[in-house]
Amino acid sequence: MEKMSRPKDFFPATRMRRMRYQAFSRRLMRENRLSADDLICPLFVIEGQNRQESVASMPGVSRLSLDLLLKEAESLLALGIPAIALFPVVDAAQKSLDADEAFNPEGLAQRSVRALKAAFPELGVITDVALDPFTSHGQDGLIDARGYVVNDETVAVLCKQALSHAEAGADIVAPSDMMDGRIGAIRQTLEANGHGNTRILAYSAKYASSFYGPFRDAVGSAGNLGSGNKYSYQMDPANSDEAMREIALDLQEGADMIMVKPGMPYLDIIRRAKTEFGVPTFAYQVSGEYAMLKAAAQNGWLDERQVVLESLLAFKRAGCDAILTYYAKNAARWLSS
Ligand code: PBG
Repeated sequence: MEKMSRPKDFFPATRMRRMRYQAFSRRLMRENRLSADDLICPLFVIEGQNRQESVASMPGVSRLSLDLLLKEAESLLALGIPAIALFPVVDAAQKSLDADEAFNPEGLAQRSVRALKAAFPELGVITDVALDPFTSHGQDGLIDARGYVVNDETVAVLCKQALSHAEAGADIVAPSDMMDGRIGAIRQTLEANGHGNTRILAYSAKYASSFYGPFRDAVGSAGNLGSGNKYSYQMDPANSDEAMREIALDLQEGADMIMVKPGMPYLDIIRRAKTEFGVPTFAYQVSGEYAMLKAAAQNGWLDERQVVLESLLAFKRAGCDAILTYYAKNAARWLSS
């Protein structure tokens, strides 16, 4: 008989499985935890009363008129979700080349913020600063005769938009446009107008991603954008060093929090950002990520609750402080049951 290569009295000094053997020790050694405190719920608002429109490419997500939005906000608050991110969806008639509607004090976003803050002062309200809901071409900024998105002229409009949000009572303005220098310009504008405590969540590392498709359906910018793209301002998915430069600039310019977007395919960027800067780091599990998880769940291919909670925990492990996710409400429910 062949001699055994392992001595009979050999035992591994470390058995990693010992700690995994029972639930109590798995719980004790758990390094990261997900709670409702980590979640931000994006919400789409439309004009009208008692109106709810489902978004075809995002089953379970609807555009809501303000009265229904307030009810939704109330239930999110009751589930312990600290904040919502508001996205207005306006008629084609309100879209233009100069995107004036973006800073209308009586605009849909501004009215919604006022109503939300009046009803639920303790709910954090985050607004999107970018022109795409309001431009007739669906770009995030103003364009020149060749269709190029012009930077500094756009920043001037973004400042007016951000100020109108702050005046309406927004707690956090979140520029998602990727123009150069906009964080500094918005910070100066807010300070100069008595809004020194309005926070800025900078979409610093926002990639030119194809995972935004369903969102563009939801806000109705997809048709306007047509075959256009955002490659001249959003980042190339191939790059990581460039994201660190973007974040460094936004922090220098006065950002309070930085965002990485999309989320799951960019967990490496989240980890790098957290390690290099150690600042409040947020991520956006975007519409395409939601659509993928939802479609697989609806087909019975994945266990929705398990994969969603796993995906959100992965954001925490990567270094995220908070996560924008269309699953916020469900996740908060699952976490409390
Ligand atoms: C636009 C904006 C986008 C998203 C948030 N703000 C889309 C884009 O840049 O085209 C995407 C969110 C999502 O996909 O869930 N300023």
